[in-house]
Amino acid sequence: MRRGYTNTRVIFFNAPSAANWGRPVHSRRRLHFTLCALVLLSLATFFMAAYVFNNLSHKNGNPYWTTGERLRLTAVQSGDGLRVTWYSELNTRQRLERALATPCKDPLMLEGDVSDRSYDATKPEKEQLMMAVTRDVIGDITLEDWLDEVIASRKGGIKLNFMAPDSLERALELLAARTLALLHVPVWLAVTVVNGPGGDGNIVDAKWAMRTVNVTYPRAQLVFQWALPCCGDDGAKFGRGSMETMLKVCQQTHQPIIVSARATHAALQWRHFRWLLESSDRLSLLLWSPDDDKSWRNDTSYYDLLTIRNDWNKRRIFYDLPELRLQHFRRLAETAGSPLHHFDVRDRDASRITWSHGANTMDTLALAGREGAMMLEADVSLDGQGTSRQTNTPVMTHRGVPRDKHKNASLSLRQWLELVLSTNKAIKLDIKSSDAVVPTLKLLAEKRSQLQRPIWLNGDILRGPNALHDPMNTTHFLKSVNAIFPEVAFSLGWTSGWSDGQDNEAYSWEMVEKMEKVARKLHQPITFAVRAVLARRSWEKLDWLLRQSRSYSLTLWCSPTSTDKIAVSDMDFIRHQSERSRVYFDVPPDVMPIL
Ligand SMILES: *[C@@H]1O[C@H](CO)[C@@H](O)[C@H](O)[C@H]1NC(C)=O
Ligand SMILES: *[C@@H]1O[C@H](CO)[C@@H](O)[C@H](O)[C@H]1NC(C)=O
Ligand SMILES: *[C@@H]1O[C@H](CO)[C@@H](O)[C@H](O)[C@H]1NC(C)=O
Ligand SMILES: *[C@@H]1O[C@H](CO)[C@@H](O)[C@H](O)[C@H]1NC(C)=O
Repeated sequence: MRRGYTNTRVIFFNAPSAANWGRPVHSRRRLHFTLCALVLLSLATFFMAAYVFNNLSHKNGNPYWTTGERLRLTAVQSGDGLRVTWYSELNTRQRLERALATPCKDPLMLEGDVSDRSYDATKPEKEQLMMAVTRDVIGDITLEDWLDEVIASRKGGIKLNFMAPDSLERALELLAARTLALLHVPVWLAVTVVNGPGGDGNIVDAKWAMRTVNVTYPRAQLVFQWALPCCGDDGAKFGRGSMETMLKVCQQTHQPIIVSARATHAALQWRHFRWLLESSDRLSLLLWSPDDDKSWRNDTSYYDLLTIRNDWNKRRIFYDLPELRLQHFRRLAETAGSPLHHFDVRDRDASRITWSHGANTMDTLALAGREGAMMLEADVSLDGQGTSRQTNTPVMTHRGVPRDKHKNASLSLRQWLELVLSTNKAIKLDIKSSDAVVPTLKLLAEKRSQLQRPIWLNGDILRGPNALHDPMNTTHFLKSVNAIFPEVAFSLGWTSGWSDGQDNEAYSWEMVEKMEKVARKLHQPITFAVRAVLARRSWEKLDWLLRQSRSYSLTLWCSPTSTDKIAVSDMDFIRHQSERSRVYFDVPPDVMPIL
């Protein structure tokens, strides 16, 4: 979304750029030069004064949108479309006033529909643009009053939806007349420009819309949408064709465009929408869902949206969801979100994520802190696991290693979490026994409000190559997570082994297919944990696995205490053969792929 906001910002601030103002100075005569300089100086002073005044006068308003400085430092810096809250369908005076009276700390967008009917019941002699969703509804607030109330409230940005070209043209004039007051206010104008699946052709000429905006109020950000049949739910029919039509329209301008679509439609056809976004870096996506969304499915739709979010630049997707739904989605995206978002990783390159593997002890945690590791990988078993004195307390230790035999290993999961929660590091907990699953989840659930970071729960649920151990009880693991703390990413692995100088088995088709069958039934994001030393020889199978869903990734791992002999060239090979955002490397620094 930095792109989204930057775009709006560029449009806001680029008007009187120094380069343009400089031109007339080339005049040959000194008098002209002096006059021009004077005019320039006074204009510059005026704009500076206007800017400063605007900042000062907005000091008490919403901290995010209204002052240029803070806009850059907060909302824009994190640049995350999910940080924006939306109040939609503010088409009546009452709804608008209620929205403006609601306290909200987030960057806010206020949305309304401009009717194509110009009739004000209170002043029948005057033609005025009204707020209403269809022409059959007689509105009770004019666009002009609506704008003035929003501007006076200093609450947030504006999104207006238009049905007819005429109302867009006249609205632009109203906006242009308020240019100074709208200096720091994002203004998005939505028009229907192409037919979607089954669309009925009631569309506005995009080229005309772009030209008109350019001429009258170039600070506005255009939002393009597809025409769809009014009542049917045809989201599933969105295909490559609809995307190509939209792309063609967007390519007629060099300006940034936001493409708007129903959230559930994008969820069903994410591959196609993704293709559209990939085709031009000037495009962003606005996903919306109305209050009474019949196509919204409680669980599935949240996780479908999460797949979209995790799979794309967070600066280029906005979520116009009803408030409760947005809150729920934000909570989900905190703990089940991608580490690439959490750490704002450059180029969405997962090999830039740094790891501390086996961070079970005070010492390793301290080292991870010094070295700035992003992900902490740690092992959880029960205290006294497998002995007669086994308790229900999860502790940080590898299977079979008695807790007190470890130097500095006396951390319980509770103590470990206390230490980790004071950092922003993401965690991958490798749960080593079926018994430990429920106590671990209960403890995580207890700390949920502080755990605002990616949480990966690893279970070795299937038998893999050269395995010495039995896998854990798959059903028990998955069911417990879904019952106690479902808002996580799963890390699903195979038990495995490797011995130097022997003919080691690789991952087989049977192993990956069996794994995919389990994964397919889960909503959560899934990373498959693969023993790094075996990855290259199994690449064909792992690549196939990755292609089965956009919510899948791979994590190649290697324990620093193991004898696995990994070739850097193998890691390089995999990095170059795969999408960068989809393979994590939890391997020692000397075998990390070269960036
Ligand atoms: C709008 O104006 C800009 C700058 O003058 C220009 O680059 C762009 O092509 C124009 N767009 C349209 C659609 O006219
Ligand atoms: C969806 O969740 C909400 C809140 O948790 C609940 O009130 C509603 O009944 C659920 N709807 C369905 C269809 O499960
Ligand atoms: C861990 O070991 C170091 C010395 O190696 C010691 O100073 C420290 O107190 C130990 N921490 C715990 C929790 O035992
Ligand atoms: C695995 O867990 C499930 C559900 O908790 C249980 O019904 C089943 O008996 C367990 N299987 C084994 C082999 O322990």
